[in-house]
Formats: sequence, structure tokens, C-alpha cells
Amino acid sequence: MADADTSAEFIARSLADPDAFWREEARLVHWERPFDQVCDTTHPPFARWFPGGRTNLCHNAVDRHAAATPDGAALSWVSTEVDQARDFTFAELLREVQSMAAALRELGVGQGDRVLLYLPMIPEAVFAMLACARLGAIHSVVFGGFASASLAARIDNATPTVIVSADAGSRGRRVIAYKPLLDEAIALAAHKPARVLLVDRGLAPAERVEGRDVDWAPLRARHARAEVPCAWVDATHPSYTLYTSGTTGRPKGVQRDTGGYAVALASSMAAIFGGRPGETFFCTSDIGWVVGHSYIVYGPLIAGMKTLMVEGLPTQPDGAIWWRLVEEHRVTVMFSSPTAIRVLKKQDPALLKRHDVSSLRALFLAGEPLDEPTARWISEGLGVPVIDNYWQTESGWPILTLLNGLGPVRPRLGSPGKAVYGYRALLLDEHTGEELVEPGRKGVLALGYPLPPGCLQTVWRDDARFVETYWRAVPGREVYSTFDWAVRDADGYFFILGRTDDVINVAGHRLGTREIEESVSGHPAIAEVAVVGVADALKGQVAVAFAVPRDAARVATPELAAALEAEVMKRVDDTLGAVARPARVRFVAALPKTRSGKLLRRAIQAVCEGRDPGDLTTIDDPGALAGVREAISR
Ligand code: PRX
Repeated sequence: MADADTSAEFIARSLADPDAFWREEARLVHWERPFDQVCDTTHPPFARWFPGGRTNLCHNAVDRHAAATPDGAALSWVSTEVDQARDFTFAELLREVQSMAAALRELGVGQGDRVLLYLPMIPEAVFAMLACARLGAIHSVVFGGFASASLAARIDNATPTVIVSADAGSRGRRVIAYKPLLDEAIALAAHKPARVLLVDRGLAPAERVEGRDVDWAPLRARHARAEVPCAWVDATHPSYTLYTSGTTGRPKGVQRDTGGYAVALASSMAAIFGGRPGETFFCTSDIGWVVGHSYIVYGPLIAGMKTLMVEGLPTQPDGAIWWRLVEEHRVTVMFSSPTAIRVLKKQDPALLKRHDVSSLRALFLAGEPLDEPTARWISEGLGVPVIDNYWQTESGWPILTLLNGLGPVRPRLGSPGKAVYGYRALLLDEHTGEELVEPGRKGVLALGYPLPPGCLQTVWRDDARFVETYWRAVPGREVYSTFDWAVRDADGYFFILGRTDDVINVAGHRLGTREIEESVSGHPAIAEVAVVGVADALKGQVAVAFAVPRDAARVATPELAAALEAEVMKRVDDTLGAVARPARVRFVAALPKTRSGKLLRRAIQAVCEGRDPGDLTTIDDPGALAGVREAISR
């Protein structure tokens, strides 16, 4: 097959001569000053891409298109929550971004300063991200579904000069006030931002703090014609941090560069997604997640495409909304998640046939395992290839997938595909670090040094944690661990088999069980808790908490237990946010642990999923596992 050969050749070239390969790809980006070197590998495991080069993400995403095709469509925003829509050409987007940049500058934001964004899916979120990039400031978007304690931890880590937020978001047409959560988070945080820029949507009353809070509307009016030039920054200048969960309760600030990210995204838009300038890209994620950063905001705009941004559920007003938008906006490339498709699969199948979706060339799905029935259903329904792609917040763009931009591909059901160009994907024995080359052997998916452009530079303000967490995880080898189990077949297709750590994946949202445990155990009636991810037909996984009450009397009757369960769930809602709320809180007398006191989360998980818990020779009190079993059947 000619296309398979093209992909194989492309991939081989990227590994045989990475310098020449990435020098070529870097031509997709505008450089104010050319780079001196493709990749500086003098300090492994750190890699500096395109050192000496100077560029700007906003220039690449907006200005160069506003100059070439000012009337070209850049952003369409549709909200089925508040029944509004707004469209922006590249010239109009540039106007908005400059006003936002002028406002941020007036509030004291300069190059290298952090700006934390706590915003719903509104166009101002895109303006703010691009405005930060324009100024050389570092944005840190916190997902709107996170509540005050999560937000406070991120404020303290990012120490932002300014926070940009809004009065409220909306979900399922229910208004969610953001401002009280933000005020509480700032009260909890040790770091106090100097200013808060507030987008008032008129959805919820929001008190202003005198001297700190300022409204966007008057500032925008005042800066309606502001000209704010792009700050040309070094290729290695951080563009943003994005917090993600790991094994500890402390979220990690994944730090991304500027030049490498721009090149990786531009390259992926061409080789993987096959998006062309002037067309429409529709990514259904949220700007609070990495998929939103890369494929709602930067990727499509860098490629000169219109990005379609939607605030609303896939079933609102009905399950045909996304297909209606595909028809109306002539979407050519779409990106979503398996959970969203499973939600749509439960709707009337006629909805999938109501609209003309013939503009669509491919649907990409990522974030969690894609099951075969879901892949088959949507692929047949749309009549386009459905392309699974596997990656992480850390990588910023796909690690495993098929290169649909280079020619037609043949997805293999259940597999996210092969290693993407630039990535040296390895399967390793978790204990010995030995490389597993024979097909069908399960190992830890690791990546060789250096990681390609676009991947994390480090953990924000914590180089040691970057090295320790990612590069020392596999014994005896300095490789990057993805913390995912995988196998590879004889043709090089990978299959992902779940995480090696305590991270769970709920509806494509990555959550740390430790963070949820800390929130639950903060409830005064709870002595101890274990949170595990349990397989779920719709969401992939859900969190289930097993809690030991301080006083057994609190759960003596089913009514009392239900009341305490509701209290614990509310506590998680209030501290972490509803995304992290366990599906169930089950009460037990003791938790299964090893004799050295380590929680046996895997054994609990196995019992929940009706599997054999495996080797229990190290268990301290076998009765505790029986208690878990009993709690489930209750
Ligand atoms: O466990 C893998 C799973 O999601 C994790 C990364 O989540 P996050 O940092 O939120 O980034 C999502 C970017 C798409 C991975 O370590 N994961 C992601 N994609 C897939 C997947 N698991 C199976 N198949 C996928 N396609």
C-alpha cells in the first residue's frame, strides 16, 4: 500500500535523521530569528528544541493569517447553554486578542508572568490564552469543573499576577457560579494575585473586590483599537503550564515551550489530522484540558483553519447537535472522546442520519480506551474513518496514532495505532527495564530520549520532580515512562492496557486517586479511605471510595450510611469539583493493606470488577478484603 509506505518512510526519516527532519517541519512556522540548532541534548533528560530561534505562538496562530487572509474565518463559538453564537475572522480575532493583551498589560502582566485562567467555554478564554502568548506571559488554564481547593493549589504553584475568570459557566442549562469558588480559592491560597479580570456574562451575581477585581467589558471598550505587538520570545520560552494528576496528591505543572510546541502542532495538523487552511476543525474537548489547548486553540489556528468551539452538552438540545454543527460549519476534521460517542450511541440512531455530514473526512478520538463496538458504530454511522490516538498532557500531541494526513489509513479496532514520527516508543519490563521486542508481550510504554518537540520541558519550578517522576521510573534506564501498560502486535500496532500508577480516567478526564482520597479524608467523620477506578460501560472508569468511619454508629443503618455518603460526595464537589466526585462511597470497617501498611488498591479494584485479586501473600488482614466484597454486594 503506497500510503503505508509513505507513513513508514516519514517515520523512519524522523528517527534516522531527526535534525534534518525537524528542520524541515520547522518551516511550517514563522521564525522572527532562525534557530541556531535543531535540538540541544547536552543536558539529558532535558531537551531544548530550536535554541537561538525566536518566534511567537500568537503570531503563528493569528497575525500571519490576519495579514494573508484577514476575512478568513478563524473562530466560531456556539453555546447551546445560553443560545448564543459568535463568529470571528482572523482580522477580528486579532482585534480581540490585542484588546485583551492591552488589558492584561495594563493590569501589570509582562513577559514571563503567569496568568491563571479559570473560565468556561467562551471566546474570551481563547482571546486570553492568545493574549498571554502575545505578551510572552505564561498561561495556566484551570478546568472550570475544578472547585476551590484544587484551584487554590494551582494558584499557589503558578503564583499568577492576574487571574482571568467569569461570573459563571453553565452545564446542562444549569448556571454554575464561578466567582464564589474563585474568591474562596484566593482566600485559601497563600499567594494573592494582584488583579482579577472578570468577564461578566450576566448569568450570576458576582461581587467585586475593591481594588482587585476589574470588569472586562469597559477595559475592552477602552482598548478597542489598541495595538500590542507580539513579544518575540526564545523558542525555549515557556508558553504555558497545565496541571495534571500523578501518583501524589500534589498536581504537577506540565511546562511547555514555544517553538517546539508550534512546530509539533503545525506538523501534526498536516501529517496526522490532514487539516487544510480555510477548512473547519471541530474539537469537542474543553480548553481546561490539553486536548483543548492543542486542538481547540493553537493547532487549528496555526494551520490557518477555523476552529469551532462549543459550550454545551452533546445531547443538547438533542443528540444531533454535533452533526448539525458539522453540516452548518462544513467541518472537515473532528476530534472527540470515546465517552462522548458512547453517550450519543444511547440516543435515537436516526439522529445520526438527520444531517449532511459529507464534509467530514475523519473523526479522531482520544483520552481513554476506545472500545470496538463504539468505534464500529460511529465509523459506520458517519461513513468516515475513526482514528484513535493516544497521548498525554505531558506530550501535548499524539504519541500513538495513524498518519491520516499522509494518505488513507487502515485503523485496527482496539488499537490507537503505531508510534508517531519523532517518538522512540519502547516496551519495557517494569522490573528489569529489559526491552520487550517480541510481539504480544506486555510492558510499560516508555519513550526514548530526547522527546520530540512539543513535549513537556519540565515540571514547573521542579526540575527534580521531572527527572525523578518520569525518567527514573523504569529501573536501570533513563527513559520517559508514560505510566501506561501496553502490548504491540507483529505489525507495530500498540494496544493500551491501563495505567501502572494510581491515575484513573473518568470519561476521558485524568484524575489522581490520591487527590480524591485527601478530599474525602478531610471529612471529620472519615478515618481512612481508598479510592479506586472501576470499569464503567459509559465513562470507561468511575471512582469508587471505600471509607472507614471514625465511629461505626454513623453508618449503623442504611439511612445513616446514605446520609454520610451524600455528605462525603458534597465535600468532594466543594473542594475538588464535581468531576472528581466518586460514583459511590462504600463504608467498611478496615481497608486491605500490606503488612507494611500500603493500600492494596489493585486488589480492591479487582474485587469491584469481579476479577481475581491475584497474589495476596502480603495482605495484613484478609478480612478487610472480604469486607470490601460485602460492602459492594450490600
Ligand atoms: O492512560 C492514558 C489515557 O489517558 C492518559 C493521559 O491523559 P491526559 O493527560 O488527560 O491526556 C489526554 C490526551 C489525549 C494516558 O496516559 N489515554 C489517552 N489516550 C488514550 C488513552 N488510553 C487509551 N487509548 C487512548 N487513545
